[in-house]
Amino acid sequence: MTTQTLGAPQRAAAIGWSSRAMFIVAAAGSAVGLGNIWKFPYIVGEHGGGAFVLVYLACLALLGLPILIAEIAIGKKGGERPASAFRHVAQAAGRSSRWSWLGDMGAITGLIVLFFYTVVTGWVGLYTVQYAAEGLGVSAPLGDPGAFFDALMRNAVAQAAALVLTVLAAAALLMRDAVRGIEAAMRWIAPAFVALLALLVVVSALAAPAPLGVIAYLLTPDFSALTPSAIGEAVGHAFFTLSVGLCGMLVYGAYLPRGAHVPKLAFSVAAIDTAISMLCAFVVMGLAFAADADPAQGPGLIFVILPEAFARMPGGAWLAAAFFATVFMAAFSSVIAVMVVVSRALEDKFALTTRAASAACAAAVLIGGLAVVGSVSGALPISLWGMGLFDVLDTLASSILLPLSGICIALFAARALADDIGGYAGGALILFCLRWVAPVALVAVAAARLG
Ligand code: PHE
Repeated sequence: MTTQTLGAPQRAAAIGWSSRAMFIVAAAGSAVGLGNIWKFPYIVGEHGGGAFVLVYLACLALLGLPILIAEIAIGKKGGERPASAFRHVAQAAGRSSRWSWLGDMGAITGLIVLFFYTVVTGWVGLYTVQYAAEGLGVSAPLGDPGAFFDALMRNAVAQAAALVLTVLAAAALLMRDAVRGIEAAMRWIAPAFVALLALLVVVSALAAPAPLGVIAYLLTPDFSALTPSAIGEAVGHAFFTLSVGLCGMLVYGAYLPRGAHVPKLAFSVAAIDTAISMLCAFVVMGLAFAADADPAQGPGLIFVILPEAFARMPGGAWLAAAFFATVFMAAFSSVIAVMVVVSRALEDKFALTTRAASAACAAAVLIGGLAVVGSVSGALPISLWGMGLFDVLDTLASSILLPLSGICIALFAARALADDIGGYAGGALILFCLRWVAPVALVAVAAARLG
């Protein structure tokens, strides 16, 4: 029997992960990304440290993890194609197949995320190259980091070139067999990432004026800094960082073997993601304090403040190259994960081959990404509601679409997968979170944000 003659769920299982550990590595590769290194430290900084971290951890445990389990379980049962997966699972539970729109919505959200995520990945790639060239002595030092960042933002050509290379490299990996492509990439990325992160933790502990002060900042709660918008941000980020809500984990779950214990695997992925976020916050905050900078800098934190810290260190160019290479690897493995969802959805909708779907996905991402580059650089005057295209897409995806699909996935799984999830140890608790905690929390957050 060839994989062509199998139904969708069976086909996915036939070309599955080579081991459960490989699933954890691949799913952690999807989860760990710019969200952990770029976004988490600056939102912690903006919202005052420890109290935000506490709320975020609660959101992860009560919302993010249960929905991660639900998404993986839907893929494992329903197969790799998002809309079809929802349809299969709904039909098996005697429910309406109209739930398949959730798969389409996931893929659309994924495409929106890719439009801006690939652009930032490109910036990170450019910083890596700049610092490596500086370390080798073939390029002049970067100079004033703020001026360098502003010049890069105005340079549409450099941003576009980095974007095109990133997207084409990801598409090339996925063209033939996504699972093998992802595994091949992760065999390099995972060990290199861990080694470089360990190096950076040591460097930051040595450079920070008071490493224990950094830990205290991250762990001591100041509840006066907790505004409704901080809580909304914590909820949105819990989804974003675990890659849930846009069916990425659904696709990865489809390639699991039949007997896999979904909650245990999901817990490992969430634990790795959280540990890495905390280490990254320690590294970034430590370096910010070493540069005498305020950690509440916003999105420019890693692009402007950290270069200032590196400039003061011996061998700073190489350390900076190591830092940005680490960020690039994390971001690239997340780009691959989202591109897989969009490609699978295109295969599903338009009956395309894997190759054609990967190419179509890359073309769509490039069009959107180039529009974002145009808007950021001012080459194209695109703005909506007084915001640049970048912020519009980021807000739409992270604050609106991801939480909205998350709540729908939770409600769907609580009904259509009640037997499967209820069969695991702790299943009753997971179902309780899916049925009650997730919807109530999300409605409360939406009300607080609007009010
Ligand atoms: N989880 C990734 C991050 O933290 C982003 C991402 C979102 C990746 C959704 C895939 C799907 O950067």
